[in-house]
Amino acid sequence: MTEAFEPKITAFVCNWCTYAGADLTGTSRIKYQSNVRVLRLPCTGRIDFMLLAKAFARGSDGVIVSGCHPNDCHYTSGNYHARRRWMIYRNLMDFMGIDTRRVTFSWVSAAEGARWAELVNEVTTTVRALGPYTEYKELALTGVE
Ligand code: FES
Repeated sequence: MTEAFEPKITAFVCNWCTYAGADLTGTSRIKYQSNVRVLRLPCTGRIDFMLLAKAFARGSDGVIVSGCHPNDCHYTSGNYHARRRWMIYRNLMDFMGIDTRRVTFSWVSAAEGARWAELVNEVTTTVRALGPYTEYKELALTGVE
């Protein structure tokens, strides 16, 4: 008997909003899918394509990038930079043959614990339906540490 596929989701979240929001989800005892592993960044402005690539190379089936809402970034414009980069990353992923539905950019504030749970559940459901992601590991990044 084969086990049902459970996706591994890596979440890159900003320290000031989404990380605190995810913490609120826990302290509010809101239940959500346990497929996500959270990596805290100072700001989503720190995200770069190699972080996404490494997440996939190391076995993630999906990625979430989430930070402060527009005009709430603690570094003024990091979330705007992240949003602009996402436009480029999406084209690059498409060019490389990576299904863009595997990456979700979002905004979750420190007060939105329920929104974090919703986001994780939505992404987990989407990625579970897409199935395991092994193509990228075979595609390019041999030697990525
Ligand atoms: Fe949260 Fe910049 S500090 S996105």
